[in-house]
Amino acid sequence: MKNQIGIIGLGVMGNALARNILNQGYSLSVYNKTFSKTNSFVENYSAEGYADLKSFLDSLKKPRIIILMISDFAVDQMIDELLFYLEEEDILIDGGNSFYKDTFKRIEKVHKNKVLYLGMGVSGGEKGALEGPSLMPSGDKKAYDYVENILKDIAAKRSDSIACVQYIGPEGSGHFVKMVHNAIEYAIMQLIAESYSLLKSFGYDLDEIADIFDHYNQGRLQSYLMEITSKIVNYQKKDEYLIEKIKDEAKQKGTGKWCAISSFEYEAAIPTLIEAVQARTFSQQPHGKDIHVRHNKSNELVDGIEKLLYLSIIMIYEQGFGLMNKASETHHWELNLSAIASIWQEGCIIKSSFLKQLEEVFKKHKSILEDENLQNEINQALNSWMNTIIKMMSSEIYAPVSCSAWTYYMGKKTALGMNLIMAQRDYFGAHGYERIDQQGQFHSNWNQ
Ligand code: 6PG
Repeated sequence: MKNQIGIIGLGVMGNALARNILNQGYSLSVYNKTFSKTNSFVENYSAEGYADLKSFLDSLKKPRIIILMISDFAVDQMIDELLFYLEEEDILIDGGNSFYKDTFKRIEKVHKNKVLYLGMGVSGGEKGALEGPSLMPSGDKKAYDYVENILKDIAAKRSDSIACVQYIGPEGSGHFVKMVHNAIEYAIMQLIAESYSLLKSFGYDLDEIADIFDHYNQGRLQSYLMEITSKIVNYQKKDEYLIEKIKDEAKQKGTGKWCAISSFEYEAAIPTLIEAVQARTFSQQPHGKDIHVRHNKSNELVDGIEKLLYLSIIMIYEQGFGLMNKASETHHWELNLSAIASIWQEGCIIKSSFLKQLEEVFKKHKSILEDENLQNEINQALNSWMNTIIKMMSSEIYAPVSCSAWTYYMGKKTALGMNLIMAQRDYFGAHGYERIDQQGQFHSNWNQ
């Protein structure tokens, strides 16, 4: 007999996850603040719906398993209401996009009532939640062990049948990892948008651009984001390409911004991820409207963009995993980077064949750039990458993420000029500097 699971929140994601749980043969109780949503859910699906929290909780066998699928701002109040009824060993799982530091506090709070807690990143949008998302649970290991089989049932499965769920670590580490996932998502989306602009500036029409992205999707760039880009670019309604009718302004819900702020806190350099967040903010300000055709179509360009995309994606992952590594060291989470690359291979928005490669790389290295095979791939494509960046400049398109990825890699290979910065600081503020030929702190009287 499978457990009876409780879901609170029947918004887009909660509704889809609830149906996924039913499809896996579990019994389900549902509760939503607005009862009409509960009512219409139970009319369509074989779940038990409740209008009040107490009856909802009474319908579950102890220890109760309750999944919260509600907006971040509503979580604290819901926990307070629940704590009135919950008992020792009951399990609360927050499957929303919560800020990881809130998850820290929430765990502490529920522990006072001996309730167990998991902060769980859920990725894959509505389709993923229904057909199998990528799950990033963290918090009480005891709770994870209890619900592991349930999570494995509802998670996405890889082609080798491995479920895309792993215990990420203690505290809010699961929500932290989901936050970084989203920042990587922003960066890859922005990168693709820049390649789209570049193709337009070379005179490619939308049909052709769709074919080019489809072509990329057949090779080492195979990924969900590449696949949907090809479909989106080609999408027509009443003989009009819908993409041409959409405003050139990007919205955001905040996870990318949280990630940018965290990078300063952990002193992790993620410039390319931050550029993608900034690009969305920038798009809200007055900006240009047209992409002018500046060059002629060329196979060299199509090949160059493939390389630019691939190498930039390497730099994006290098930065995202670098940040996770830093946070892991700070909080002693012991994040398993290879396992994270493994559970992102299916179900989530950034799923791609490249993550299979990363799963192997992180078994041996902490940094992607330490991997000899990938380093060879970078070296082979370096010239073409540089030429494509130059084409971006001469096309006069907006390409902050592509340029940042290139600059990031250059920084890994060349001196940075920070000796001059340190000399300037010492000149005007006597901040001191270190030397390459002697130990210790130095200060010079630059005016003498
Ligand atoms: C996912 C997505 C999901 C959501 C983003 C969108 O992994 O399923 O990341 O969580 O689509 O939060 O974020 P923005 O609204 O900030 O683009």
